[in-house]
Amino acid sequence: MEKEIQVAEASIQEMEPRVQAHKWYPRFHVAPRAYWMNDPNGFSYFNGEYHLFYQHHPFSPEWGPMHWGHVVSRDLVHWEHLPVALAPSTEDDADGCFSGSAIEVNGKLVAMYTGNVWTGPDHDTDLKQVQMIAESSDGIHFTKRVEPVINEAPEGDIHPYHFRDPKVWEHNGTYYCVLGSRTKDHQGQVLLYRSDDLLNWAFMAVAAKKEGNGGFMWECPDLFHLGEHDVLVMSPQGVKPEGEKFHNLHQAVYVLGELEYGTGTFTHGDFHMLDAGFDFYAPQTLEDPEGRRVMIGWMDMWESEMPTQAHGFCGAMTIPRVLVPDGDRLLVQPLPELAELRREAVSYENQPVTAKQTFDSVNGTCLELRVEVNIKNADAFRVNFRSGSEEKTVLRWDKKDAAVTLDRTKSGAGVSGTRTVKVNTESDILKFRLFLDQSSAEIFINDGEAVMTARIYPEETSDGIEFEAEGEAVIERLEKWELH
Ligand code: FRU
Repeated sequence: MEKEIQVAEASIQEMEPRVQAHKWYPRFHVAPRAYWMNDPNGFSYFNGEYHLFYQHHPFSPEWGPMHWGHVVSRDLVHWEHLPVALAPSTEDDADGCFSGSAIEVNGKLVAMYTGNVWTGPDHDTDLKQVQMIAESSDGIHFTKRVEPVINEAPEGDIHPYHFRDPKVWEHNGTYYCVLGSRTKDHQGQVLLYRSDDLLNWAFMAVAAKKEGNGGFMWECPDLFHLGEHDVLVMSPQGVKPEGEKFHNLHQAVYVLGELEYGTGTFTHGDFHMLDAGFDFYAPQTLEDPEGRRVMIGWMDMWESEMPTQAHGFCGAMTIPRVLVPDGDRLLVQPLPELAELRREAVSYENQPVTAKQTFDSVNGTCLELRVEVNIKNADAFRVNFRSGSEEKTVLRWDKKDAAVTLDRTKSGAGVSGTRTVKVNTESDILKFRLFLDQSSAEIFINDGEAVMTARIYPEETSDGIEFEAEGEAVIERLEKWELH
């Protein structure tokens, strides 16, 4: 694989200087040095560092034969790029090293991923997927096992080709892995396997599937214990909209339940959305040394407009988010250590807002903004950000719907539409926490009750932030930091 990696590195290095100065290139999010990125892969902690790999096409800003790009961090905040870790190089992954995970075993970092081969021109029907292993002693250079460790999909009502994205974990001395799958008539499901050595895998059961509106394929499953429950995170394709939910082409959801390790069945409740915005897919989690469950997702969506492609790059990761159990829900919160990125700060207190209002130094393109607003006497409250003469992205709370809407009708190039999520304002206090980074917005509502993520492509001069209310809202606290 050495030769393939060298060719990929040469391609990236040639393009890199042109890409990273672009106005839409993220400053504190993980993004490809150049060209294309999708799913996070192999998110793991190894030898005192966090490793994050990602689906990467190092030859063009479009999806293509998948490699694994690689970044590393000591704190999940500052990331350093490493050389491409996996490249297509064997008979079984000739057309792509698809998504997978990584786990530390006896001082080695072991990656398990899907080898993909096209057997004809139709990418939906003409494919063969197998599960493969690659190992590394230093966390940087990987050696593949040439033979797949899972060669074909199991018997039963399981689609023979679409099975992929292994996520491995260890439980009481045994390894387990979940795989994304579908039934023969295209209903999403998750398969569970077990192994004593990561090389010989035994199929246990279809761990989970959903009757009704569950989508045609479940990609990128991730199963772990958190608080009182086992949690299955996954990315179902083709779920239909229900009310204000599920309006993206594909979803990233979790279900809470119990995994019966003896039989391999997972009894669970209904889908909850992990993000109520536009651009969040294929998240993967790890348990950090403090026992926190940290999640990173791909901050884009399949088949959406991606205006950065014209500039040689595409795709980014979200900030790391901590999953916190809260009864029959999970809260999704920004990693607290992101505070290390804070530079120049401004803050205001007890500011009544009626008509449109701005505050000195509360503006920018790369920042964190925290707003706590008393909405007892308000019918609506709005924050317009990345606002300029023609552009603005609008975050709006409406009392009549008890909901927050993110509107990117005027967010700049390529994007449009709105997303809405119900929120709880029984306390009369509404909390917004925004992370903006050149071409993205991640909005945490009420301490993680909901998150809305969007890519936006405004002019760099559209850096205004305005607050508006119908009735009277009182901003009890407003804080803004430049982030570097
Ligand atoms: C999810 C996904 C995975 C697959 C990978 C290919 O976004 O479709 O199922 O392994 O992307 O890049």
